[in-house]
Order: sequence, then C-alpha cells, then structure tokens
Amino acid sequence: MPAYAVIGGQWGDEGKGKVIDYLAKNADLVARYSGGNNAGHTVINEHGNFAFHLVPCGTAWPNTVNAICNGVVVDPNVLIEEIKKVHDAKLPGKIVISTKSHIIMPYHIELDKLQEIQRGSSAIGTTGRGIGPAYVDKVGRTGIRMGELLDPKKLKAKLNDIVDKKNELLIKIYGGSPINITDVHLNVDNWYENLHPYISNVEKKTNDILNQDGNIILEGAQGTLLDLDHGTYPYVTSSSSTIGGAITGTGIAPKEISKITGIYKSYCTRVGSGPFPTELTGSKGDEIRQQAQEFGTTTGRARRVGWFDAVAGRFSAKLNGFDSLVITRLDILDEWEEIKICSEYKLDGKIITDFPTDVEQLDQCIPKYKNLSGWKTSTSGTTQYSDLPKQAKTYLSTLESELGVPIYLVSTGPKRNEVITLNEIITR
Ligand code: IMP
Repeated sequence: MPAYAVIGGQWGDEGKGKVIDYLAKNADLVARYSGGNNAGHTVINEHGNFAFHLVPCGTAWPNTVNAICNGVVVDPNVLIEEIKKVHDAKLPGKIVISTKSHIIMPYHIELDKLQEIQRGSSAIGTTGRGIGPAYVDKVGRTGIRMGELLDPKKLKAKLNDIVDKKNELLIKIYGGSPINITDVHLNVDNWYENLHPYISNVEKKTNDILNQDGNIILEGAQGTLLDLDHGTYPYVTSSSSTIGGAITGTGIAPKEISKITGIYKSYCTRVGSGPFPTELTGSKGDEIRQQAQEFGTTTGRARRVGWFDAVAGRFSAKLNGFDSLVITRLDILDEWEEIKICSEYKLDGKIITDFPTDVEQLDQCIPKYKNLSGWKTSTSGTTQYSDLPKQAKTYLSTLESELGVPIYLVSTGPKRNEVITLNEIITR
C-alpha cells in the first residue's frame, strides 16, 4: 500500500509534470497536495501538449484518479477551464476535488496584486494568483472550502458579510477597487454548476486505495526552496511544498510513504525575488535562458538561471529524505564547454557546506565551484545510459556524490519517452 512522493529539490520548475505523467502509468491515484495555480506543470504525451496548473499530471492514464487534495488552494475559474481542456483532449483520467481544499476568491487575487505593489522594492515577485491571501484566510480560519460550494445558497449569504469586510480592506488599506457582490454570487452559481460533480471526500478515497494495495503518487508543486517554513523566507510561497506538506496536504499517514523522490534540473532556475547564489547574470545568463527557453509556464516571466547548487541541493535532499533522484533537462547542457557545480559557499571568509537559514546570510554567500568538462554533443532524446558521452556520465555521478542520493531517472527531452531509466521508481 505504498505512496510515492515526487518533490522539487530547487526553486520549482524542475520538470515535475513530465516525470509524474511518466510515473503515473503505474499509479491508481495522483494526489496534488499543495499550492494552487501558481504552478505550471508541463506534460507532452500522445494526447498533446498541456500546461496543468491545478489538475494533477496523471490524466493521460485511464485507470488513474487525479485528486486535488485538501492542501491545495483552488481558483474555480481556472479549474473549470482546465477540466474543459482535459475533456476536449479526451484525456481519460478521472478528476476529484477535496471538500477540504480552499477556494481562491476574487478578493484574494486583488489583495495579492495590491500587497505586492505596497511591498515596493521588497516585493516577493508572487505570481499574482491570490495564493498567499487565500492561505492567510485558511490559517485565520476565515477561508471558504470547496465543500461549501455544495450549498450555494448558504455560501452566498456567508459571502455577503465577508465581501463587505474585504472591500473595506481593499479600499481603505490598499486604495484598490471593491469587489462586486453580484459578480461573486454569479461566480458561485457558475462554480457550483461546473464543479459539484467532482467535489467529494478525497481523503477517504486516497486511504481506500492505499488499503487495497494501490499505488499513489504525491505530486509536489513549487520546490523545496520555496517552502513556507524551510525555503528562503520571506521569498517563498505560502504553502508546504516539502514532504511535511505531502502528509498534511492529503490526509495520509507518514508510514504509507515508501519512497521519496527529488526532482532537480541539471542547472538551477528561480522566478521572482530572493537570494540565488549561483545565478548567472549578464549575457551568459541571457544566452542560457534563451537556449533553454526558461520562461514561466504560468506567468511567462523570464526565469533567473544559474549553475547547479549542490549546497542547496543537499539541504533539500536531507530535509525531504530523498532516496532517489530524477535529473531533468540534461540535454540543455549539451553545448556547454565547461559545466560548474557549486559544492560549497564562502561566507565571511570561511568555507561552509550547510545551507544558511537566513536569507541575508545566503545573499552574502560566494559559491565555490567544481569545474567539469562539457560533452559538446547531443544527448537529446537519449534513452540508454550507455549512449551518454563520458563527460555527461561524470556530470551525473558528481551530482550523485554531491547530494549523496542515487539517480533513478534522467530526462533528456520534454516528451514522455525521452528518459533514461536507471532504476524503477514505481512498480506494480
Ligand atoms: P506565490 O506562490 O504566487 O505567492 O509566489 C511566491 C514566490 O514563489 C514567487 O517568487 C513566485 O515566483 C514563486 N513561485 C510560485 N509558484 C512557482 C512555481 O510553480 N514555479 C516557480 N516559482 C514559483
């Protein structure tokens, strides 16, 4: 009765979508456990090209249930659109939504944008999707859960009061415009109409599958370094993207998790503000960003790019207890003459190998690199480890030894079958 967690080891955008679509073949249920439509999970398979923001990445498989679990914050308008796309593309996987997941309301989206403006030069660079304000209401116990949509009349009455208070906040504190309550009521009717068949007791379904010896994938969103508690606070998202979030965000017991896999890109990227010790600025950064097309799936923003940071990577591996790794986008490094891996930092003249807990300290860290030779030949679409150039094998084995975790999969292109399997992560 195993659950398998698949978690980003960096600042998100590690290629989780592709990997989960690949692994979901052997899963009875894929459980998205945190975040909201700030995520953009790209999947390319026999059904087409998809960018999922809320729907889990197992929809291509007919026997896989795709569960939006209690830890997720849901923008119903985005979800309705996404479910429509899934149906239009005739993707066979079933979709269910937890009654306990929280709704991102229009006032959350407004607040997110206005709060970012108010932060000025300390802006986090949020995706503007209302994620933070929705989680604030969840923690403040004033949030609205998906289960409440099942009684639209009662929900509309409750919202009259809430929207009044939110409008006061929007106008008086942030100088914004009020939310129209009639529009909110219309929204509620539309959301009920389109979503009520999907809303159910997902926690029971998940645990029933585990009791029947089924396989479950816990689909991470964002990455470890964006985790609310353990990431580069305050430049983080508002949810627990790490293994703790996989448990509270789904309602399964920790003992059910049999494997925890960390996904890392073969280099680093980050969107939004916050420290990034190995960042490549200037023309080299621009060159890599263009070559790798590092632009956000959700916002289209240019991603910051840099060398693989093994200090941060080790921190993520330890925190989550990764027992296997997936390295993605190896082929992006194909043309590089020399490839660097940051193995330690220099801080205040001293060498450190632990990831600092304080962002101001992290900002002062100077990366110390191991220089490796590039392979200057295409690995794009390679499926056999033996076909990789010697230098690429050395690069991978250096990552393994830096992180102290074995690599099970290497992704060599965006399509599902562009992958080297060194070891199976999920078996039947
Ligand atoms: P929020 O999650 O929209 O509040 O944004 C907080 C921070 O997390 C910002 O720096 C975002 O750019 C970043 N972020 C949120 N979701 C993702 C993601 O899926 N990939 C990469 N960065 C993300």
